[in-house]
Amino acid sequence: MRILVIGSGAREHALALGLSKDPATTELHFAPGNAGMEALGTCHPEAAKVDDPQAMLALAKKVEAELVVVGPEIPLVAGVADALRENGFAVFGPNKDAARIEGSKAFAKDVMAAAGVATARAEQITPGASDEEIEKALDNFGPHYVVKDDGLAGGKGVVVTDDRAAARAHVDAVLAAGNPVLLESFLDGPEVSLFCLVDGEVVVPLLPAQDHKRAYDNDEGPNTGGMGAYTPLPWLPEDGVRRIVDEVCKPVAHEMVARGCAYSGLLYAGLAWGKEGPAVVEFNCRFGDPETQAVLALLKSPLAEVLNAVATGKLAELPPLEWEDGYALTVVLAAENYPASPRKGDVITGADSEAVLHAGTARNEAGELVSAGGRVLNVIGTGATLADARDNAYAVLKDIAMDGGHYRSDIALPAVEGKISV
Ligand code: GLY
Repeated sequence: MRILVIGSGAREHALALGLSKDPATTELHFAPGNAGMEALGTCHPEAAKVDDPQAMLALAKKVEAELVVVGPEIPLVAGVADALRENGFAVFGPNKDAARIEGSKAFAKDVMAAAGVATARAEQITPGASDEEIEKALDNFGPHYVVKDDGLAGGKGVVVTDDRAAARAHVDAVLAAGNPVLLESFLDGPEVSLFCLVDGEVVVPLLPAQDHKRAYDNDEGPNTGGMGAYTPLPWLPEDGVRRIVDEVCKPVAHEMVARGCAYSGLLYAGLAWGKEGPAVVEFNCRFGDPETQAVLALLKSPLAEVLNAVATGKLAELPPLEWEDGYALTVVLAAENYPASPRKGDVITGADSEAVLHAGTARNEAGELVSAGGRVLNVIGTGATLADARDNAYAVLKDIAMDGGHYRSDIALPAVEGKISV
């Protein structure tokens, strides 16, 4: 199978690695890919505009792709999957109307209300709202304020704060950019990321994971795109995945079919496990980053066959997924000044291990590996226990050098120490 993967982060590197191990894969192409993916297939730097449906279609035609896997949300929300499907390509990733589950938080809330799915109480503020209307809306929330940009914001759209002035400042900033704001009640409890393969009403869960969104140890510092993740979750109740599938993912898949925008691809449910069980924080229309890097490290089933089954409407016929025993963990190496204004161009050495996935990397004129984004590398560790997986990942990280590079030293540590309970 000739496969085109759209995207250039560590999530796409993990997908490429998994696909490369499936004997059904004959050729891999990446739009545009990154320096780490070069070893697995052909990078197409000329196809860097991944949200341009016609550019992605042209590349799919050129490489005669038999399967196209869309990694990030931006091309999905922009209608890349629609353009490819209209031209006969098998695509892993939802069409534009179904991708609204991530592209519009108001749409997601509406779907959840109709499907009877537990989620935070929410109120929308639209551009043009008066000072009095904004203050009145804020009065309905707190003391923890959750303020969200209604559209896509690349992980920068959500502010969670106890400081009302900071909450108001984010409301003003989002409205000034012309987007609606969603105020939400704060959901208590440890977070779970559950990825489900969805093909209409057929829902197949992957292993549950948890990511660490704050920049520094002990969940301090600003929110990031994710500084590390681990899977599975030793603290999750035994019926945890079944409950999320039955109470959240299946009702949403059903509701999407009923609305005429059947879902096909990966539905990512971000949840908080509170006193009553799972409640939805957000949905994403694609694999999560960095959780995917850990989850796929434990997948034994052939990835090309799995993704192709969804893309061709045959998920119901796929044999049950098989997983390695044990745990996997990923730790993100971030650039100097990430997340505020990451420095680029720092030379990276010691990153040759197979356990290293590239996120924001490039080659300089001398051919050296350099940083080219905020999150630069992801290091994977696996092991019979979560503690072993941690040790293995951090042992690899110690050998990697990059000026200004920083990472969290406590990925999965609260779980290892038994400090998470539900
Ligand atoms: N792990 C967060 C995200 O993928 O959005």
